[in-house]
Amino acid sequence: TTAERVADLLGRMTVEEKVGQMLQLDARDDLRDHVLRRHVGSILHTSPERILEANRLTAQTRLRIPLLVGEDCIHGHSFWPGATIYPTQLGMAATWDAELIERVARASAEEVAVTGVHWTFSPVLCIARDLRWGRVGETFGEDPFLIGELASAMVRGYQGDGLDDPTAILATAKHFAGYSETQGGRDASEADISRRKLRSWFLPPFERVAREGCRTFMLGYQSTDGVPITVNDWLLSEVLRGEWGYTGTLITDWDNVGRMVWEQKVQPDYAHAAAAAVKAGNDMVMTTPRFYEGALEAVERGMLAEDAFDAAVARILTLKFDLGLFEDPRLPSPDLDTVVGSAAHAELNLEVARRSIVLLENDGTLPLAASSPVRVAVVGPLADDAQTQLGDWAGGSGQAGWLDGQPREMITTVLDGLRGIDGWTVRHARGADILTLEQDPRGATFPDGQPRHPVVVPSLPDDRLIEEAVAAAEASDVVVAVVGDRIELVGEGRSTATLELIGGQVALLDAVIATGKPVIVVLLASKPLVLPPSVARAAAVLWAANPGMKGGQALAEIIAGRAEPSGRLPISFARHAGQQPTYYNQLRGQHGDRYADLTQSPAWAFGEGLSYTTVSYSDLTLAATSLGTGDEIEAAVTVTNTGSRPVRETVQVYVRDQVTSVSWADKELKGYRQVDLAPGESARVRLTLPVADCTIVDAAGERLVEAGAFELLVGPSSRDEVLLAAGFEVR
Ligand code: IFM
Repeated sequence: TTAERVADLLGRMTVEEKVGQMLQLDARDDLRDHVLRRHVGSILHTSPERILEANRLTAQTRLRIPLLVGEDCIHGHSFWPGATIYPTQLGMAATWDAELIERVARASAEEVAVTGVHWTFSPVLCIARDLRWGRVGETFGEDPFLIGELASAMVRGYQGDGLDDPTAILATAKHFAGYSETQGGRDASEADISRRKLRSWFLPPFERVAREGCRTFMLGYQSTDGVPITVNDWLLSEVLRGEWGYTGTLITDWDNVGRMVWEQKVQPDYAHAAAAAVKAGNDMVMTTPRFYEGALEAVERGMLAEDAFDAAVARILTLKFDLGLFEDPRLPSPDLDTVVGSAAHAELNLEVARRSIVLLENDGTLPLAASSPVRVAVVGPLADDAQTQLGDWAGGSGQAGWLDGQPREMITTVLDGLRGIDGWTVRHARGADILTLEQDPRGATFPDGQPRHPVVVPSLPDDRLIEEAVAAAEASDVVVAVVGDRIELVGEGRSTATLELIGGQVALLDAVIATGKPVIVVLLASKPLVLPPSVARAAAVLWAANPGMKGGQALAEIIAGRAEPSGRLPISFARHAGQQPTYYNQLRGQHGDRYADLTQSPAWAFGEGLSYTTVSYSDLTLAATSLGTGDEIEAAVTVTNTGSRPVRETVQVYVRDQVTSVSWADKELKGYRQVDLAPGESARVRLTLPVADCTIVDAAGERLVEAGAFELLVGPSSRDEVLLAAGFEVR
């Protein structure tokens, strides 16, 4: 059995070999040193050459323990030029389609596995609340239930039917837990979050995937109550391993152990930091080479017993045995080209991109009639921006989407897509620049030698560029203006203070909208941004997140009416950065419902999204209105396509607990169903929900159903005014 093989191997390992197994080091550094001197157990940020070289070196080690290869393949293979890059997680979340996301993760796993990578650091289960946070686009949005559904699907897709399947890879639930609850949106700042708040919103998605067998968890960078998560005993031992019975592997984030010494300064040296990390139950230590020396010194100084590493090493070896790496190290396959970037995956990519696009506004201009000749002015700095379309963690070098070697012909930009519509005349003008970069005056690297992001300098509006765009608009029937953010404004360590479109984009929009031509605003933005007032006079607004390689084609198809928009917001859009946070499920009991100078309501709320048709909801009924905690709520609602185009409608189900013993959200998403309706078609949609799901977390931190009055709310979004309500009583 695996347990016997693990015990046997562990019994033959020296303490140095055990400490080395706990290390995951950067394959771009000195591989000889990592493998031969530090006995490294895992590498990340690889290429086939680095994987093969590392394996040649491993063959020279005493026990020849195979390496685990990890990578951030979070919406496709981030380190592989030519791999299929899907919409980012937030884009995928807008599909609200767990089955589709499972298929994407499965297809992604096939590409990842064939390149010799065994482990992806995905999915992200953080709850996005402050939109200024740079990693909002890596999340599934703001709702714990939706995150749980989609993350669970993604884990199933990656891990497949079992790790002995050569196309299965390890999934990682990250970043455990509360990492996204920042100060002012600043990445990895203190998460000022109580245990009760964690249990209420932040932990449930993690609990779900822990119980469903997600094989690894990654810990966040942040501190909570002064304790870095890396050494948070309550979270790691009591909750994760204790209450949830999690037996998987824990990995730190990048240099979390070193950060306790040089950044957070809660440990005086690497021996103390290593001892604390081991005692807290970390298994794999990402990119802290000095953990090796620190841990051995901790043993020498009597801070750690020699067998202190056994549990961690056993868990790492279990992964390696379960993946079958001792029999087959799963090196890059010679015929990987038949899998990576395959035509079937491009088709899936296009399908998910279409489904991820959210139509936010439409005065009836969309869809444009594909059959009639249309003159289109395509303006905006992102209309032909392949890199923004892919987003972060893409394009051959991992983070920051540098397009090293990513074949441009695999990417269809919005301009390419619109040029592909037969009979249309397309004029293109960039119209504006967004930003330039300057080196940080404090130097190019952090104290630990890691590169510091350059400083973003917003571009100024450029009259000449704007004139070109206005001329193109005036010579056309319609304008498609493609604006948004860029990868330099997004990602780890890249939060923004503002949410407005930067550079010359606002001036460009103002100018083209002032021409009086119908303007379709296409927002290619990793996360919700704040749009300028002139957009109220635009003909339509579409949000496409970072829609991946085929995103431009999907957008063109939707604009031309060859595909129906069906995305729904997994996250609310703010009207102003100062409204943060804008998520829908905030605690009720705020004093008033507006700022003195602005409404508190979002520009577009969670769950919203239009179609090219109209849909009505009627006759919400409940089979029973007095229920016990073990019962199911059985509801039905009639949903009718009242327009002339087909629709995939997302029927959303919220629960309102009328009176709670503690302040609680006024309503929470508890389920949803997607139905396809032809023009004029009506369906009776049945919805069942266990009463046991109608919980709150009480003042003592216990999750429970409180007896009393509830409402089931059903409709097309989280906005009260569009929801039908039916009351029921829990006995
Ligand atoms: O997986 C990532 C994590 O999300 C942020 N820090 C770096 C890790 C490895 O690249």
